[in-house]
Amino acid sequence: MPAAFDQVIDRVRGAGVPVEEGSAEQAARSEVERLLRFPGPKGLAQEIFTRPLLDEHPLQMRTRRFVTGEGGMGHVALTSTKPAGLRGYYDTVFDARLSDYIDETISGIMLKIRFLRVNERHHSIAVASTQGVRLNPIRTRIQHLNVQVAELDDMVGAYQRVQELGFGMALAVGQHTNDRELSFYAQTPSGFEWEVGWNPLVVDEKTWEPVTHQGISVWGHPRGADSDRQARPVPPWRGLPADHRRRRARPGRGRGRGLRPRSRTPRGPQPRQPHPGHRARLTQPPPAVTPTTGRGIP
Ligand SMILES: [Fe+2]
Repeated sequence: MPAAFDQVIDRVRGAGVPVEEGSAEQAARSEVERLLRFPGPKGLAQEIFTRPLLDEHPLQMRTRRFVTGEGGMGHVALTSTKPAGLRGYYDTVFDARLSDYIDETISGIMLKIRFLRVNERHHSIAVASTQGVRLNPIRTRIQHLNVQVAELDDMVGAYQRVQELGFGMALAVGQHTNDRELSFYAQTPSGFEWEVGWNPLVVDEKTWEPVTHQGISVWGHPRGADSDRQARPVPPWRGLPADHRRRRARPGRGRGRGLRPRSRTPRGPQPRQPHPGHRARLTQPPPAVTPTTGRGIP
């Protein structure tokens, strides 16, 4: 394993990417043997490590199991106006292979999505770009992050919790055309989307041939109502302790949507009733929501 780690360092350095190996103290803090950090596209830091500290006791959690292992933890989807540059980076540094493309047309603009794999997982990286007009409709550095659960019941349970707790649903359940994964997309407070998926196909390197699919879904993946919300500026008091927010909320001081006096007539659609445990968070102004293209990226 150390030899493989040094090979990776040589590969990354050889590609002209500056690498920073973590000190023993940093590695210990991250509970790994060795740690390597280097810059990636869109300001995303890449980290590689060897021998993480493992606990033999299984986690106590609602989900039975996440599917990781040889295929890694899932995938990340990015948008870019320079997709060839991103693909070149992942090809050069990670030996990424093209799995396939999806063409998706939204409001007359065609998106080309490239799906790249680095192991048996159909894709670890998806890169979406507009065709013809160069624009990037996504403000966040990643459009979505995917995790795969082992059981269909885990995906269904996660979907129900997202709804019960009052979080936004970007795309409800559906099935993708290329990797055939069943999934849904929830909105995170940071603005990017979180895809929970089940049962994607596994690539056989001997027989796989890249093709182009039309549209991201065989069925489903309808837009969630919350994805219609427009991006709003983040008020300056977000992140302050609750008592600071209350002071800000006094007449003449606060102008946030969630801080107006109760007697004021609310305008527009009313928020869903949040779970009691999340009432405080959800009565604050909603997070700035990424203006998506209306459909996700698988
Ligand atoms: Fe995805």
